[in-house]
Parts: sequence; structure tokens; C-alpha cells
Amino acid sequence: MSSMPAALQVIVTGANGQLGYALQQTVPEFINNVAVKLQALTRQQLDLSSPETIAETLESLQPDIIINAAAYTAVDKAESEPQLADVINHQSVAAIARWCASKKKMLVQVSTDFVFDGKKATAYLPDDRCQPLGVYGSSKRAGEIAALDNNPTTYVVRTGWVYCEQGANFVKTMLRLGAERESLGIVSDQLGTPTYAVNLAEMIWSLVAKKPEPKIFHFSDAGVASWYDFAAAIFSLAEQKKILQRQPQVNPIRTSDYPTPAQRPAFSVLDKQQTWTLLSIQPVHWQRALSAMLDKLA
Ligand SMILES: NC(=O)c1ccc[n+]([C@@H]2O[C@H](COP(=O)([O-])OP(=O)(O)OC[C@H]3O[C@@H](n4cnc5c(N)ncnc54)[C@H](OP(=O)(O)O)[C@@H]3O)[C@@H](O)[C@H]2O)c1
Repeated sequence: MSSMPAALQVIVTGANGQLGYALQQTVPEFINNVAVKLQALTRQQLDLSSPETIAETLESLQPDIIINAAAYTAVDKAESEPQLADVINHQSVAAIARWCASKKKMLVQVSTDFVFDGKKATAYLPDDRCQPLGVYGSSKRAGEIAALDNNPTTYVVRTGWVYCEQGANFVKTMLRLGAERESLGIVSDQLGTPTYAVNLAEMIWSLVAKKPEPKIFHFSDAGVASWYDFAAAIFSLAEQKKILQRQPQVNPIRTSDYPTPAQRPAFSVLDKQQTWTLLSIQPVHWQRALSAMLDKLA
């Protein structure tokens, strides 16, 4: 008589965030022939502002894999709340990583392109020097180091410019403003790559299944855009898909014309080649991914 293999217990934090939602939407039924049992935890179930409670909560849940999709993500507000950002994005990550190490479990720690200063002219490689410009980026970088140093089976997945039908993001803000205004000024001198959270979630499930050597991975959709390009594509597609009745006029502006509390990298395109090759991922251009997201929204 053959016994059924036990289920793979996977915890996703940040259940109500963009990536947390996308991970729940895309969870595979089986990973390597083992049934997946997903528990997506809200802030109420696992509060990353209380690192001292983390080990006890994880002990009661006994996950095999933790995907930490929760974070303090308010980039500008972080400048005035550096301690809270550090507790959530660094100290709690260290606590999760220590628990994983003690039980020999896998941790996927999601991080950001804002660990870089944006002074490079070609796409950032995973081992390029980190030099965050603000509190958010610094706290996320400290979280990466804590996750890697405390647990041998940590995968750091850096991404950028994330959007999804669930949650607050640039796409939804543009659709709202586009319906209200005749014209908009959008920053055209910051370059990066938009990332549809669903594609990022699929990449993470593939990583969990293939278990390559643990290290830092880069993932976004393919191509390059400025926020201006991104906004123009959102409006053009939204009109085509009849989400907006007409497109507002989009005017390019400089970062210096739109001061924010946090400084952002002028260039934060990630080099994804290693990820695409190792995980056999077919890159999707960001405009195609955006179109797919808008279809769901419509
Ligand atoms: N959004 C981007 O453009 C972007 C870019 C690069 C990297 N990333 C990284 O990608 C990951 C996912 O981001 P996202 O876009 O999905 O972010 P998000 O939509 O802002 O979601 C963040 C989640 O974290 C949760 N959270 C915040 N504080 C918490 C706490 N103290 N305890 C427990 N949970 C807490 C939030 O809970 P509530 O729902 O209760 O608020 C929310 O569900 C993060 O690691 C982020 O740093 C994001």
C-alpha cells in the first residue's frame, strides 16, 4: 500500500497586498507531485511590526516554505517613519529567516529595485553594488542581508514597479486621474520596468518548484519604460478597451518638477537573464502584461 505524500505547507504573508493576492490566484495544486496547502496570512495573523511574536506564530503553523510578500511599501512615508520601516522590512525578516534556519525551511524574501542608486546605464545584475537612496530602499536592503545571512535556504527576489488588479498602484491611480482630468504631467526621466504581480507570482512558484541554488534573483516584465511611457500606454490601452472614454493629454515632466520626500533611482532596470534562463521563463513585454491586467480589470 503506497502512502500519500504529506502536503507542502506554504505560508504567504501580505495576503491582502498586490503580490499576496497574485500568489493566491496562481497557486499550483501540486508542486513536484505534492499537494500544496497555502495559508495566506494578513497583518492580523502575522504582524511584522512585532518581530518578537514571529517565531511563536510560525511554530504553531509549521510551514515548509515561507513567501514573504508583506512589507512596509510606502516609499515616501518611510522617510518620516524609518524605525517602523526597519522593524517591518528588516528586523522581522531576520526573525523569519532565523526560524527557517532552525527548521531547515525555504524562505522567499521579496525585495526591490530601490536597493540601487540608479547611476548605472545598463541593467542591474543581482551582484551589482547596492546603494539605496532612501529609507525604504535601505530597510529592504537590510532585510535582504538578514534573510540571506540568517538562513542558508533563502531566495531573494528583487522586482520593481509592481501593479495588479488588487491593491493600490500606478495603473489604478492613472485610470482614476485620467477619468477626472484633461491633462497630466508625468515624470519622464526615471526609467524602470513595470511588473504585473501575476507574472511575478508565477515566477515565484516556478522558483519554489525548481529550487535552484539559493541566491538573489531579479524579476520584472521585459522592456524598459519611463513613468511617462507607462502612463501613455495605460491611457492608450484603456481607451481601446473602453475602460476610459477618452485619453487625457500626458505631458512629460522632470523629477525635479515633482518633488517627493524620498529620492528615487533615475534608472532601475533589472537584468533578468539569469532568472529567465534558470527557470525557463518566456519573458513577457510589459505592454503585453499591462494589456492582460487591463482585460481583467475591464
Ligand atoms: N509595489 C511595488 O511597486 C514594489 C516594487 C518593488 C518591490 N516591491 C516589493 O514587493 C513585495 C510585495 O509588494 P506589494 O506591491 O504586493 O505591496 P502592497 O500591495 O503594498 O502590500 C504589502 C502588504 O504588506 C502588508 N503589511 C504591511 N505592514 C505589515 C505588518 N506590519 N505586518 C504584516 N503585514 C504587513 C500589508 O498589509 P495590509 O493589507 O494590512 O496593509 C499588505 O498586504 C514587497 O516586498 C515590496 O517591497 C514592491
